[in-house]
Amino acid sequence: MSCQYVPHTRIPTLVFATSSQASQHVAVMIESLIRQNNSAGQPTVLGLPTGSTPVGIYRDLIRLHKQAGLDFSRVITFNLDEYFRLSADDPHSYRRWMQETFFDQVNIRTENIHIPDGTISQDTADEYCAGYEQLIRRAGGIDLQILGIGRTGHIGFNEPGSTRHSRTRLTTLDPVTRRDAAGDFFGEENVPQQALTMGVGTILEARKIVILAFGEHKAEIVQRAVEGEMTDAITASFLQKHPDTTFILDRAAAGELTAVHSPWMVGPVEWTPALIRRAVIWLSLTVGKALLKLSDDDFREHELYELLREHGPAQRLGRRVFDEMMKTICTHPGGTEPGTILVFSPHPDDDVISMGGTLIRLLGHNLRVHVAYRTSGTIAVFDHDA
Ligand code: F6R
Repeated sequence: MSCQYVPHTRIPTLVFATSSQASQHVAVMIESLIRQNNSAGQPTVLGLPTGSTPVGIYRDLIRLHKQAGLDFSRVITFNLDEYFRLSADDPHSYRRWMQETFFDQVNIRTENIHIPDGTISQDTADEYCAGYEQLIRRAGGIDLQILGIGRTGHIGFNEPGSTRHSRTRLTTLDPVTRRDAAGDFFGEENVPQQALTMGVGTILEARKIVILAFGEHKAEIVQRAVEGEMTDAITASFLQKHPDTTFILDRAAAGELTAVHSPWMVGPVEWTPALIRRAVIWLSLTVGKALLKLSDDDFREHELYELLREHGPAQRLGRRVFDEMMKTICTHPGGTEPGTILVFSPHPDDDVISMGGTLIRLLGHNLRVHVAYRTSGTIAVFDHDA
């Protein structure tokens, strides 16, 4: 399994080629911790998240339990959060999600599972949350905390503005978080406004933390959390001060990190044709000039002196990339013969969003164009309605 540490980050960051490799790595890490503690007769205390990110880890842990005898009977778990006012058996509650996705399929003891109770009343929330913290302390603290990161930069449901010392509490969800959850709840208006969450301070007390992010849509917030200043506007950035945190990413989520996105900014690079193209396009976008108008000074002022020296001057580099880009434009995507084109689109609108210009060009060349929409509706309709 190939993976690599990214240089120049404020949190140690490990990148895997795929999310399944990354999940497997974390599952094996959890496995060895459990086995080590089991053989010493000690419990293992895990802090757990829900969401799309940890699904692969839970799947791998279930496989390790079923095929390699991984014993969860001494494992104690604390979930990060739960939606407020959702009962445990609500299809959207994190309690139900955890049972179905993980707990029901391993030999964990029911009394060792802790998930904030979304049904408590507002008046008792403070007392309840203090009790949750006490349970964590009584279990000896969290050995390993697994986290995801939201697009607001939240960990747990610690939305922007949560302080570094915040504790387990009832909190209000950010509009971005509610919008991201809208798909699961069939509409933003159905997403709860509030949730119970462990605080940032609570999370930072874990002895070891692994935070994961997969996919291009997380790349920007990951970059800010890992390379930016520590700020309560991105609560994941507080992990910069934790002594044993690792950020684990797939390639897409690492895409905006400086060493990945513009490696020439952090040290010498080998100027391959692909990297030359990337750097020159990046420069053109950064300085807001057309490729053919880039000057030697633009290269010098943007850490591209080496490129200029090895492959310059600027005019030559601009022309080279311009010509390469021109070659990527296909003037007759449907060929030059008359005919019929059948386009398969996963969902109505994917065709227009991803190849609208091509569709217009095909029609302009007098080809007959048909679009087949391949949607069954199964993921856009509640199970009970179906
Ligand atoms: C969930 C949790 C959240 C998620 C985060 C990312 O228990 O604490 O912080 O980890 O919102 O969610 P996904 O993984 O669905 O992108």
